[in-house]
Order: sequence, then C-alpha cells, then structure tokens
Amino acid sequence: MERIYRDADVDASILKGKTIAVIGYGIQGKAQAANCRDSGFKVIVGCRGKDEGSASRDQAKSDGFESMNVSDATKRAEVLLIELADPVQPAVYKNEIAPHLRAGQTLCFCHGFSVLYGQIQPPKDVNVVLYVPNAPGAFVRAKYQKGEGVYGCISVDHDATGNAKEIVLAISKAVGSTRAGVVEMTFQHETEGDNFEEQILYGGAIHLMRACFNVMVKNGYPPSFAYAKAIRSLRSVIDVMDEKGIEEYLTKGCSRTCEFAVRSRGPRVINVQEIERIFAETEAGLFARDWMQEWSLGMPQLHRLRRTARESEMEKTGTEWRKEFGK
Ligand SMILES: NC(=O)c1ccc[n+]([C@@H]2O[C@H](COP(=O)([O-])OP(=O)(O)OC[C@H]3O[C@@H](n4cnc5c(N)ncnc54)[C@H](OP(=O)(O)O)[C@@H]3O)[C@@H](O)[C@H]2O)c1
Repeated sequence: MERIYRDADVDASILKGKTIAVIGYGIQGKAQAANCRDSGFKVIVGCRGKDEGSASRDQAKSDGFESMNVSDATKRAEVLLIELADPVQPAVYKNEIAPHLRAGQTLCFCHGFSVLYGQIQPPKDVNVVLYVPNAPGAFVRAKYQKGEGVYGCISVDHDATGNAKEIVLAISKAVGSTRAGVVEMTFQHETEGDNFEEQILYGGAIHLMRACFNVMVKNGYPPSFAYAKAIRSLRSVIDVMDEKGIEEYLTKGCSRTCEFAVRSRGPRVINVQEIERIFAETEAGLFARDWMQEWSLGMPQLHRLRRTARESEMEKTGTEWRKEFGK
C-alpha cells in the first residue's frame, strides 16, 4: 500500500519565514494563494497586469495580496508555486523567471508537463517539485474553508537543498490536501495520468453523450428528451457512485433493468484496445508532441472543431433546454 501523508505526518513550519510567490492568478492560483495565506504563510502574487491587458494583478491586490510582475515576485520569493496555464509556462519561465532564479529556491509545479517534456529545464541549484490537488481551484478553496481538503499528490524531480520533499509536503499541507491525504508519485505518472484521463474519461464521456443524443434524434426522438437522457440523467448518478461505490449504485441505487443494461451492454460500447493504444501513445510522448505542435501553430484544429461543435444541434438544444427546464 502506498504511503498516505496526513496533517499529523507533515511539519509545515519549514515554510515559516519564507515568502511563497504564487505565479499566475487563475483557477488554481487564486485558491492556492488564499489557502496558503489562511494557513498562516506569507504569500505574494506574481502575474500579468493592466499593462499586459490583464485584470489579474488588480484582482490579486483587491483580494488583499501584494501583487507584482512575475520577475519581481521571483526575486522576492523562496518558494514559487507555478500556477500559469501550461502552454505559456515555457515562455514566461524563460523571460521572467529563469533570469532571476537563485540557488536554494523551490519551483513547485501544479502539473508535470513542462518539466517532463523538457520545455522547462531549471538549473541544478533549485528544487523542482510538484504538488497537485485533484480538483478545480474553486473546489480546493471551498473544501479548505469547510475545514476539509482535497486528495493530492506530490513529487520531487530534483532535490537541491536536501529537504525538497519536506518543502513540498508542507505546501500540500498549507493548501489543505493533507487533511484528506497526499501520496507521492513521479512527474511522469502525474503528467501522463492526467493526459490519459483527459483523453479517455473526458474525451470518451463527452463523445458518448453526443452519440447518445445524435442517435436518438436521428431516429425521431424529441431533442429535449434526447438531451435530458444524454446529459442530465448522468449528473446525480455520478455523485452516488463516487460517494457509495459503483456496485452499491448498481445493486441498490438503480432499477434491475438498468443494472442488466449496464452489465450486459455497457462493455460493448467501450473499445478497450483503443484505450490501450491511447495509453501507449501517451507514454511514448505522442499526445504531448501533437498538443505542443497544435499550440505552436495557433490551435488550428481546435478552432475548427469548436466551430462545428458550437453549431451542432445538441448545443442549440442545450441552450433552449436550460432556459425551459432549468439548470
Ligand atoms: N484548472 C484546474 O483545476 C487544475 C487542476 C489541477 C492542476 N492544474 C494545473 O494548475 C496550473 C494552472 O492551471 P489553471 O487551470 O489554474 O490555469 P488558468 O486559470 O487557465 O491560467 C492561469 C494563469 O495563466 C496566466 N497566463 C495565461 N497566458 C499568459 C501569458 N501569456 N503570460 C503570463 N500569464 C499568462 C493567466 O493570466 P491572466 O489572468 O493574466 O490571463 C492565468 O491567470 C497548470 O499547470 C494546470 O495544469 C489545474
């Protein structure tokens, strides 16, 4: 069984007297900055300002943080939480972080992509660690405020100071994850696991919902009925499965007809060979290569696919559906 780190296992006082710079004030940055501050640590925020067409620096200021550009925050901090959107990290690192790094600082990433694929190669005299809470920022913050936390993972890619693991565990405690439990893994597993989940679970589930809707409508069903079946009915069911387990849901939470449908027909819908193939492609770095190429070309494929999806009957039905039947 893997080791699970909880509050009692971690001494966060290693961060006392240190300045934590949250770099990037978006979905994760806002939540992690607020949690670290409420845990009693000194937090500053480094992000874009009005001069770069962004309201983030003003937002951080009005949330009570000392906020500044990324270069100044890098100079001031001992620990940097890199909470920038992944595709922009290499450029911001090269221009605004790397020139100001000094020995003994800690770079803490929230996703391993930039480091695993060599987009960012920090000098050997700084710590390179990873802490990822397994939830969107708003959830991370809401759980913290309730006295709870979100399951998280940590990793050490390079230990320059001899105590990088203690530092990253302390960060995870400051954000609240050791209240729920934190496990250690590699940058590789965190990154590829996340990218695999995005392709299989989000990719698969979304296209399953669309296929369910399209087949019903093509066969003459009213779009509002098909839409309710394709999306809304999943909502409550997912929560029950998460809280009680899949078997408890199947045997006690749904009808016997539903149980039979799930067990007998469900496997036919899933292409396990293709899932294995996508896993192998992800491990070989092919997904990362394709995504980096797509980003560097200005996302032509995404722009094209977005246009088609926006104009689809399902999206139009969804807009009407929410007006008619509620959110
Ligand atoms: N989203 C999640 O819930 C989640 C969950 C787990 C891990 N993570 C990881 O957490 C990290 C942050 O993700 P996120 O979802 O919080 O990111 P995000 O909200 O999409 O973006 C974070 C910040 O990146 C900044 N940014 C974008 N383009 C920039 C540029 N050209 N120069 C400087 N700053 C720029 C944005 O600044 P402006 O505000 O100025 O536009 C924004 O505040 C990523 O490594 C991600 O993989 C995210």
